[in-house]
Amino acid sequence: MQVINEILPLREQRRKWQIEGKVIGFVPTMGNLHDGHLDLVRRAREKCDVVVVSIFVNPMQFGPNEDLDAYPRTMDADCKALEALGVNCVFVPKVEDIYARGLEQQTFVEVPGLSYMICGASRPGHFRGVATIVCKLFNMVQPNHAFFGEKDFQQLQVIKGMVQDLSMNLTIHGVPTRREEDGLAMSSRNNYLSVEERQRASRIYETISLVADAILQGRRDFTALIAEHKALLNQSGFKVDYIEIRSASTLLHPSHEEKNLVILCAAFLGKTRLIDNIQVDLD
Ligand code: PAF
Repeated sequence: MQVINEILPLREQRRKWQIEGKVIGFVPTMGNLHDGHLDLVRRAREKCDVVVVSIFVNPMQFGPNEDLDAYPRTMDADCKALEALGVNCVFVPKVEDIYARGLEQQTFVEVPGLSYMICGASRPGHFRGVATIVCKLFNMVQPNHAFFGEKDFQQLQVIKGMVQDLSMNLTIHGVPTRREEDGLAMSSRNNYLSVEERQRASRIYETISLVADAILQGRRDFTALIAEHKALLNQSGFKVDYIEIRSASTLLHPSHEEKNLVILCAAFLGKTRLIDNIQVDLD
């Protein structure tokens, strides 16, 4: 497995693969890999001839009071796990190469609408940072297929929107959320939880599952349904940012006829902001 730190050698390798007619799969990450990330890599491995994984903690997607400096960095363990899965290349660029003119002057990509709602309302600029780095990485790696977790459901929609709007020549794949035994969605941020917080953390998934069951059983008074479950989660010691029931395809408030719904939740447990979602298919 090659570890490449610079853009030119990456382009050179990419050119060789192109000449050999290889189908290129790409998994962008911020490192600190868990089984959820490894599922993305496994999917890429199945679908493509060669797999590139990037590890880059992207400063542009963190707000001023967020966890950029504290974000866990575990490069050696990450590389071992990727090598064991048969990854061809790990791309680990430096911040100064990615944002050569500084963040203030950086050209950005923003998917309007989708980027401002739900998580985007709580984290202004976050999805601009995500779309910009993913666009840049796509330009460097030029993959045929790229893989993203459904855990970050809104991020996946933002990226699909960007690819469509900018006529990018690749296919985006969403991969189902990997969960711990108690249902907690795997996330690098779970590492921040104390032992006691970790025991309670699965209540997010329990709560959105209850909302999903209620909808499947016919409840349509979404405002009341959300308020009840928000109160439940707050009573369990969370500080709920939002619980939303949206159309899974547009992330807009659903019409009465909408069949594909997604329930999204973000909540703080202590200082840690956890997100999760569950899709409900009414067909
Ligand atoms: O999901 C993530 O880890 C990041 O948002 C991504 C897509 C790698 C962009 O930095």
